[in-house]
Amino acid sequence: MALRDIVSDKDNILRKRSREVTEFNEKLSKLLDDMVETLKKVGGSGLAAPQVGILRRAVIVKDGKDYVEMINPVIISVEGEQLDYEACLSVKNRSCKVSRPKKVKMEYYDRKGKKVINTFEGWEARACCHELDHLDGILFYDKAYKD
Ligand code: CO
Repeated sequence: MALRDIVSDKDNILRKRSREVTEFNEKLSKLLDDMVETLKKVGGSGLAAPQVGILRRAVIVKDGKDYVEMINPVIISVEGEQLDYEACLSVKNRSCKVSRPKKVKMEYYDRKGKKVINTFEGWEARACCHELDHLDGILFYDKAYKD
């Protein structure tokens, strides 16, 4: 495993759309291991592959003590709304309120290519939405809530 550098929002790569993962191979496992190690080191709620310079649809979301790996994740359904402050490992010294669903039902693949359906609530639901946005070149402050 190795630590990867996290790109800042000054880098245009964070504005690009990431491509689907098509091969569940050793390279993907290495990327996921590195992303988890990097996230553990910097201490955040989640990390998306484009944040380490890889334009592929893969994210890590911290869920309690676990680090959930999501490949080609999609939101199948949402419930409720929550408003809270959000920040990002790629964005220095900035946070703002963002409205997110209270609950999200997600479909994604694990590193072996097995399909998983899982529901996340509260802060983890927020993290899922934030990380998925990264895969489409969206940053949290694009969605800043205006009172
Ligand atoms: Co982020």
